[in-house]
Amino acid sequence: MSADIIAALHAIVGDVGLKTGDTDTESFLTDWHGQYRGQSLAVVMPETTEQVSQVMALADAHDIVVVPQGGNTGFMGGATPDSDGNSILLSLRRMNRIREIDATNMSMTVEAGCVLQTLHDTTEKQGLYFPLNLAAKGSCTIGGNLGTNAGGLNVVRYGTTRELTLGVEVVLMGGRVLNLLGGLRKDNTGYDLRHLFVGSEGTLGVITAATMKLFPQPVARATSFAEVRDVSAAVELLHRLQAASGGGVEAFELIPADILHVVFHHFPEIPQPLATRGAMNVLMEIGSSNPASGIADDSGETPLQTIMQETLAAAFEDGLVLDATIAASEAQRRALWDVREMAPESHKRSRGVARSDISLAQSSLAPFYEDMVTAVRAVDPTIRICGYGHLGDGNLHFNLVADERSNSEFDSKKDQLYELIYEHVAKYNGSISAEHGIGQTKRAQLAKVKAPEVLDVMRAIKASIDPKNLMNPGKVI
Ligand code: FAD
Ligand code: LAC
Ligand code: ZN
Repeated sequence: MSADIIAALHAIVGDVGLKTGDTDTESFLTDWHGQYRGQSLAVVMPETTEQVSQVMALADAHDIVVVPQGGNTGFMGGATPDSDGNSILLSLRRMNRIREIDATNMSMTVEAGCVLQTLHDTTEKQGLYFPLNLAAKGSCTIGGNLGTNAGGLNVVRYGTTRELTLGVEVVLMGGRVLNLLGGLRKDNTGYDLRHLFVGSEGTLGVITAATMKLFPQPVARATSFAEVRDVSAAVELLHRLQAASGGGVEAFELIPADILHVVFHHFPEIPQPLATRGAMNVLMEIGSSNPASGIADDSGETPLQTIMQETLAAAFEDGLVLDATIAASEAQRRALWDVREMAPESHKRSRGVARSDISLAQSSLAPFYEDMVTAVRAVDPTIRICGYGHLGDGNLHFNLVADERSNSEFDSKKDQLYELIYEHVAKYNGSISAEHGIGQTKRAQLAKVKAPEVLDVMRAIKASIDPKNLMNPGKVI
């Protein structure tokens, strides 16, 4: 039976689109953290929507599970199949054509396997900007970004992947193709189905292409790393900078001392942003597509740098900011961003980590942070409290990391630490997943935090679109 299926898959995608040997499939069957390991009948790599449709028809006819995968950089194990070995791992990486860039409509239609960095490079050459930006940009694909509704570093200005999406093309189990592509900004013709598929983590269908919004390319930026008094000062500074820059904040990231410690422990070659390491810091950037904003005056400062400088000076006077640096060159800006962008890799290399991806109302960020520090210190004062991330979106990766010198049994405390995080998220009406999704990691947690009637509606949607539960089962719900 399985030999017949392999032969049928081969007839659809040929040698180049089929991998069956252990060595060839290994990297597709393990997630980025090395936390999950699955098995599959085959890794299938179609090149066209028509081939995806044929694979989905075959899978449906033989009741075979399909697990879609893009760059395999997801954090929730969503792209890793179970260990049965009866599923098709459907990698979209070969579907990587840019179908159209419509500069007049400020949109592009791209295939699911396009790597995010390639989309940045291609649009930049045309003076256009695709603002979705995450440290995995060299590997993650737009299909995976859509599958997870990825957030990243510039959501504060441009929104999440969902908000950047004008249309999608989706293949359903059985092979039917839903063409929901198109560059319309407004279209109230019934249920907006594209939003069902964005963030569905491969559980409803395979996204094969999408139409995404484009923006004018920011040509001027001012980037600063500042030590702040505490989290509430950081929130106040965010609002002041938004007001001063006319909503021009492109990124606003919280960086506590403990994450600096972990990053510099693993990457000592990255330059320290400030002479001394403050307890709480932010990395912030404002941008403009107006070239005049980037031209230095007689004092050597650009208009954007002046806005940043004046906002920081006033915040310093008011005791919100204790120290700060403004990048004077692109190289300095890059070095500041390295500190932030190496955070996930530094955690991967750490001895023990309890990871989270929570969101809270801006007004709850400071009390949540304070409560959590007290609670974690009571469990183990040596734990590194790395509550870092996208403060501008109310989204923190409140990660707890084992100190490399401590002998404490971090792993035995992990369950307790996760309980503390989720208890506090509930107390402050936050979300247990801001941008990474649910996958297999948070499935049980989702069932605990969502109301039964909400879960019922989710299950009804899933059952109506994928009645045999062949699309990425065991994920999300
Ligand atoms: P995969 O990991 O291959 O898949 C992710 C999920 O989407 C799976 O459930 C999969 O089944 C589904 N899927 C994939 N392709 C399709 C498709 N074509 N159709 C339907 N479903 C599909 N995430 C953030 O949100 N913000 C960050 O700042 C961020 N930073 C990161 C930094 C690093 C260093 C790393 C390694 C990861 C980071 N991530 C971040 C997580 C990850 O990069 C994102 O979730 C990304 O969107 C996943 O894209 P991918 O192509 O790798 O998807
Ligand atoms: C980050 C990833 C983990 O923001 O979402 O670093
Ligand atoms: Zn993040």
